[in-house]
Amino acid sequence: MAEYDESRLTVVDHPLVQHKLSILRDKSTSTKDFRELVTELAVLEGYEAMRDLPLYEVEIETPLEKTTAKKIAGKKLAIIPILRAGLGMVDGLLTLVPSARVGHVGMYRHRETHEPVQYYCKFPDDIDQRICLIVDPMLATGGSLTAAIQFLREAGVQDIRALAIVASPEGVKATLDFDPDVRLFTCVVDRELNDSAYILPGLGDAGDRIYGTK
Ligand code: PRP
Ligand code: URA
Repeated sequence: MAEYDESRLTVVDHPLVQHKLSILRDKSTSTKDFRELVTELAVLEGYEAMRDLPLYEVEIETPLEKTTAKKIAGKKLAIIPILRAGLGMVDGLLTLVPSARVGHVGMYRHRETHEPVQYYCKFPDDIDQRICLIVDPMLATGGSLTAAIQFLREAGVQDIRALAIVASPEGVKATLDFDPDVRLFTCVVDRELNDSAYILPGLGDAGDRIYGTK
C-alpha cells in the first residue's frame, strides 16, 4: 500500500466529476464524447486547482453605486500539457484563464521499460514568473509527470500544480516523493497498476481514446 503526504493531494470528487468520470471509463464511450468529457473535467478540476489564487481589491461602479470588488492579482499562469493526452485538458483550462500561456512537453512511455522518452519541450520565455499547471489525464508510474516537474524546476518555476484525471497510488507516491513542494490534483486515485503499468480499473490509453488512434 503506497503511503504519501496527503496534505499535497486533492481528490476532486464532486458528484458532477464522479458522474462524468464514470462515462469516461466506459469502453463504449465514443471518441467525441470522451474528448468532450476530458475538457469538462479539466474545467471542474481547474476550478479547484486555482481556488487559492491571490486577489486584490479594485474600485468599481455598479449601475447603482461605487464599491470595492476583487480581481486576480499578480502572478500569471502557464498550462503545461504532457503530449499527447494532456492536450485534451488545455481548452477547458483556457476557458477559465484565457490569457494563460501554454508550454508543451512531448513524451511517450517506452513500450517495455515504461520509462518516459522525451521528444519535445517548449516553454514561454518568462516561465519562471508563472504558476504552472501541468496537465495529463493519466498518472500511472509517475515517470512522465516527474520528468515534466524536473524540466520546470530546472527552468526556475516555483509554484507547480499537477492535474491528472485518474491516478494510481504508485504514481501519486512517486510524484509527491520526487518533489517536496508540488501539489497534485486528481479526480480519483484508482486501485493499482497492472504488469504493463496501466491503471486498474482506469480508462485505458487516454491518448488513443482522445484521438481515436486505436
Ligand atoms: C500516457 C499518459 C501519460 C503517461 C502516464 O502517455 O498520457 O503521459 O502515459 O504514464 P506514467 O505515469 O507511467 O509515465 P503515453 O506514453 O501513452 O503517450 P501518449 O499520450 O502520446 O499516448
Ligand atoms: N497511460 C494511459 O493512457 N493509461 C494508463 O492506464 C496508463 C498510462
